[in-house]
Amino acid sequence: MKKIILTGLRPTGNLHLGHYFGAGQNYLKMQEDYDFYLEIADVQALTDNFDNPEKVRKNVYEITKDLLAIGLDPNKVHFFIQSKIPEIAELTVFYSNLVTVSRLQRNPTVKNEIAQKKELFGTNGESITYGFLGYPVSQAADITVFDGELIPVGDDQLPLLEQCREIVRKFNSIYGNILKEPQQVLSNTTRVKGLDGNEKMGKSLGNAIYLIDDEETIKKKIMMALTDTNKIKKDDPADPDKCMVYYYHKLVNTIENTNTVCSECKKGARGCVACKKELIEAMNNFLEPIRKRRKQYEENKDLVKEILDNGTQVAQNKAKDTMKKIKDAMKIDY
Ligand code: TRP
Repeated sequence: MKKIILTGLRPTGNLHLGHYFGAGQNYLKMQEDYDFYLEIADVQALTDNFDNPEKVRKNVYEITKDLLAIGLDPNKVHFFIQSKIPEIAELTVFYSNLVTVSRLQRNPTVKNEIAQKKELFGTNGESITYGFLGYPVSQAADITVFDGELIPVGDDQLPLLEQCREIVRKFNSIYGNILKEPQQVLSNTTRVKGLDGNEKMGKSLGNAIYLIDDEETIKKKIMMALTDTNKIKKDDPADPDKCMVYYYHKLVNTIENTNTVCSECKKGARGCVACKKELIEAMNNFLEPIRKRRKQYEENKDLVKEILDNGTQVAQNKAKDTMKKIKDAMKIDY
């Protein structure tokens, strides 16, 4: 029996290079060896987008197409929509008894997010909703209702996994040994930096290269990317480590070309415009197979829906199974 791997994504926008190198690449490897459940977490997305349901709905399909476009195989991965699994909501209610409000308030991920969402939750988080504060509980339900053992996540998610394990231990100590403690699988690449040199590439920062960007957009974005600000003239020597163009060459170009970029840049033997043009070409070469695959799914909307329906069916069966065991243990198997 293959081990169960589970992860989720909030459908709030298209995937960018940060998602690809931070997560997608790992998923591609893992789909070969594991029983892979991939949750499109629309209910979780609504916790901070409750006033914008259209956005969430649109992005359920957008993000699914992005994931298929990078090469995830619907025969190997169960793509499913969170809201179609009512057991998750049900289990969230049961788990809510096993966690204190103050523990949730101390969760570093939740704290960070509240601080970033001042408009929604107030300057000091005084308008925080019950739903948002409780989303780690719901995420613990996401994971355990599928017996998720291995959870690929970025390091920002570690406090949520810790919280999930605490709930599991509490549940097992009261109701019997039913649930598995999930383990994280951290991705090997850490964050991908933004076009502006920011440590993080992100939608809200406006510094992202998206997998759906077309050639014209790629050209515009790379032409504006941050380079070593000390380099004034074309033949000034510069420091490639202070340059986002070199940084992306390392991600998408061959090692050979990247080495040439580095040594020529240090010697002052390469102008930034030429260097950017080379990167535009390499980036488009990298994105081309992704664009091609996406187009196939774009042209066949029924197929995307069918993939989600099939994955959701598998997820529903699994969730029903686990839920039966949980209700037995909790003596609510009327
Ligand atoms: N909280 C995750 C994020 O924002 C998304 C997510 C939802 C998730 N359910 C999950 C991640 C279950 C891992 C496991 O990226």
